Amino acid sequence: MNYTGAVSVLHRLAPYLEEQGDGHVVVLSSVAGDRGRLKNYVYGSAKAGLNAYLQGLRARLFRRGVSVTTVKPGFMDTDMTWGIEGMFLVASPDQAARACLKAAGKRRHVVYVPFFWWGIMTIIRHIPEFIFKKMNI
Ligand SMILES: NC(=O)c1ccc[n+]([C@@H]2O[C@H](COP(=O)([O-])OP(=O)(O)OC[C@H]3O[C@@H](n4cnc5c(N)ncnc54)[C@H](OP(=O)(O)O)[C@@H]3O)[C@@H](O)[C@H]2O)c1
Repeated sequence: MNYTGAVSVLHRLAPYLEEQGDGHVVVLSSVAGDRGRLKNYVYGSAKAGLNAYLQGLRARLFRRGVSVTTVKPGFMDTDMTWGIEGMFLVASPDQAARACLKAAGKRRHVVYVPFFWWGIMTIIRHIPEFIFKKMNI
């Protein structure tokens, strides 16, 4: 669903947005799409695919004045994460919603929510694979 659900809607919506010639598309992806992790690589791979799709959609729609923003939240306090142990730096849904609105207004391409996840994921992405595969994250 994380890939097919979003893409099936966006792909049908795209021609209408092209015709409209204005607007913002904001899609909730995840930091999990930045690197396949031992604990959630199926989910992460769907989000990685979604990120690639959104890059293409952005290129398609920007020609018609429509922006596409990929939002990459870290941990958020929602039903999805209820009861999961070991979460840290958890953001509220309100915080995430405000960040989405701000990013859309600025026509940002990709935003991390909260912003500091950009730094965390930059480090995680750069850990060499021979070390990363042994890590329990
Ligand atoms: N929570 C996090 O820590 C976190 C982190 C990174 C990214 N994200 C992403 O943020 C997005 C929102 O997640 P969330 O945390 O808000 O999750 P959530 O509280 O579980 O909400 C998920 C929403 O999706 C709807 N939904 C689920 N399956 C569906 C289906 N098959 N068809 C139609 N609607 C469906 C649910 O509808 P019902 O209420 O009717 O069930 C619910 O409104 C997701 O894309 C998630 O991957 C979340």
